[in-house]
Amino acid sequence: MSSSASHRPAVLVARQVFPDTVARLRQHFDVEAYEGHTPIRRDELIARLQGKAGVFVAGTEPIDADLLQACPSLKAVCSMAVGYNNIDVAACTARGVLVTNAPGVLTETTADFGFALMMATARRITESERFLRRGEWTHWSYDLMAGQDIHGATLGVLGMGRIGQAIARRGALGFGMKVVYHNRSRLSEAEEAAIGARWLTLPELMAQADHLVIVVPYSAGTHHLVGAAQLALMKPTATLTNIARGGVVDDAALAEALKAGQLAAAGLDVFEGEPQVHPALLEVPNMVLTPHIASASLATRRAMAELAADNLIAALTGRQPLTPLNPEVRTSA
Ligand code: DGY
Repeated sequence: MSSSASHRPAVLVARQVFPDTVARLRQHFDVEAYEGHTPIRRDELIARLQGKAGVFVAGTEPIDADLLQACPSLKAVCSMAVGYNNIDVAACTARGVLVTNAPGVLTETTADFGFALMMATARRITESERFLRRGEWTHWSYDLMAGQDIHGATLGVLGMGRIGQAIARRGALGFGMKVVYHNRSRLSEAEEAAIGARWLTLPELMAQADHLVIVVPYSAGTHHLVGAAQLALMKPTATLTNIARGGVVDDAALAEALKAGQLAAAGLDVFEGEPQVHPALLEVPNMVLTPHIASASLATRRAMAELAADNLIAALTGRQPLTPLNPEVRTSA
């Protein structure tokens, strides 16, 4: 499908991305690139998608049935994110629109960050820095900013996909942690044995973890999976780290639980309704808050963008994309 006189497929790059990724796409397509810093407005997205065969997105552009109906030329939606809760894959499949995401290329970088956030949370790194910058450090004290150990502690992983397993490996093999996890499907016996991981029910996981790291994908089924009832099960010395998606944790309930001392500290990279942050979270001192940057090393962001571009090129030149979410849909320009 093409709207251009050159008969090359027309595509929209709907998020700012590396200029050389856009340049590569221009070798294959008539490219319109949205240049705004913030996500494109929905009405503008729909307007710009008229006559486009493909769209390059991130995890921030909602692609749903109404949009697909309003953009009948669309054949491929290629995201540079691994999480795809912004895309209604079933609606895309029903309309013959191919969808791809970007798994694999960000696994180790995201696991590095999840582990770093967990450590910063347990050892009160940012809280300490704020204290020091405020000029409040006047003397050494036996309990000054004393936190929780990582080595030898019990690491709880909620969501044992690629990233969960990479975090578990870091904990088990690098820090001598005991690994417990909850996931819809269990690892194989060999995979469990390699990192000494033990499957638990969700309530057991909440109760046993010294450090809980959440990496489960967001869906209607995982909305507020960790809410007041689950938080109440945690040890008062435990920490919680969320690098999955906002909405998996009930942020208001988390702020309340921290204020009540139901757990020791929390680290959040993702928020319900981000980039807005629940005001109650900003009032809690024992938190590390970061702006959705778990996959943000330059090399990995480049790899994510390149994979999305490869997928878009394949999808619109009649080849099978590398990482399709609905491989049953086959498309060409
Ligand atoms: C992902 O790839 O899903 C990251 O969260 C960035 O959106």
